[in-house]
Amino acid sequence: MANVLRINKKIASYDKKIIVDGDKSLSIRWVLLASQSSGKSKAYNLLMSEDVNAALDSIKKLGIKVKLHKHFCEIYGKGINGFKYKKNLIINARNSGTLGRLLLGLLVKSNKKIKFVGDKSLSKRDFSRITKPLKKFGAKFYHETKNKLPLSILGSETIKGINYLENKGSAQCKSSVMLAALNASGTTSIKAKKSRNHTELLFKHLKIPIKIKRSKKFDYIEIKQPKKIKAFNYHIPGDISSSAFFMALTTLSNNSKLTIKDVNTNPSRIGVIKILKKMGAKISFRNQRNYNGEKIADILIKSSKKLKSINCPPELNSSAIDEFLIIFLVAAKAKGISHFKDLSELNQKESPRLNLGSKILNIMGIKTELSKDSIKIYGQPNLEIKKTIIVKDYLKDHRVFMMSTIAALTCGGNWQIHDKDSVNTSFPSFLKIITKLKNKH
Ligand code: S3P
Repeated sequence: MANVLRINKKIASYDKKIIVDGDKSLSIRWVLLASQSSGKSKAYNLLMSEDVNAALDSIKKLGIKVKLHKHFCEIYGKGINGFKYKKNLIINARNSGTLGRLLLGLLVKSNKKIKFVGDKSLSKRDFSRITKPLKKFGAKFYHETKNKLPLSILGSETIKGINYLENKGSAQCKSSVMLAALNASGTTSIKAKKSRNHTELLFKHLKIPIKIKRSKKFDYIEIKQPKKIKAFNYHIPGDISSSAFFMALTTLSNNSKLTIKDVNTNPSRIGVIKILKKMGAKISFRNQRNYNGEKIADILIKSSKKLKSINCPPELNSSAIDEFLIIFLVAAKAKGISHFKDLSELNQKESPRLNLGSKILNIMGIKTELSKDSIKIYGQPNLEIKKTIIVKDYLKDHRVFMMSTIAALTCGGNWQIHDKDSVNTSFPSFLKIITKLKNKH
């Protein structure tokens, strides 16, 4: 079967330099903000994955011109709420929660109904978390199934700024409201539990009126409507979420060393590095620099002989939210019992990742204790799998596929991992990089 990856051998030691594909969060935000700007914007190293293609296809359907060149992408923005489209438009957000939720935010002033659909995974995910605040702005929603896709949005001519409390630590919810605020008169005030802050940094870079005050747990954000957004060029750095799979691979392999070049190391995204370092991983930054408010660095990783368990501080959860599957794998090979808490959001992702992560570890022979929002993992530093392991029926969650691949390359056993093409959602180069690391030269 062509779409099944078979691995029956651990990876040999390596010493290599790699680059990973562009950051998914920044790529989708660039597409959406460029569509609202006035004039031609360019992005270099834009992630060319399913989620970003879905974003490009969506703005094209909304009347925005997009040109893909070999080394860059151009978007011809038509200004804030400058979308032009026919009646009965259907937008397909496919697998992307970020696209679906952020784009609905931009459409609070749409003058015709637009229907949003998604794939099987996205159609299981909660949309009430953004329809609630967007209704407060004045938008109307029509559901077929309560709180889920498919749903239709009809904007309102008069959109007024709102007060909004975001208490899940969700950057998608915060960003959806921030994008709606571009259409709102008056001030939009957001109290948001800490989460990735790329939208805030882009607003500042684009001189959109934004004020931010910080406390330990929350950010207080105030946004006023800009007159216009100027077109902007952007060089997308590498994705730390994609890098995390190779941080784990190198940590768990013998005598290996890896440099990952030009990665976005925004402090709101580096929870995975903090957690792995607490467990004994050898990870450091080189060549650190700033880029339009974002931090970028080369990441150096060396194999670790001794990994210890962690009682993971929940304040790190949001900054590592997409990396827990791979962190669980490292915990499976660490000495002692690791404990991860307050993680109910993990079951709200492309698949129920807390449950599935636990299930895969169990199949590998690792004991876990699972609750609705927490997991205890009984690590086995000397784990050697001898049996056949089949991974399938996981809603094609790209990160489940990549976690399983890293497990196969580091724990032994005879693996058959289905839905290989799921990597195209976020990290099309994943398997090419594995081949490069396996290659002796
Ligand atoms: C994202 C936010 C996170 C993350 C997702 C990307 C973003 O989701 O899981 O992959 O780009 O804003 P939540 O905001 O729902 O936690």
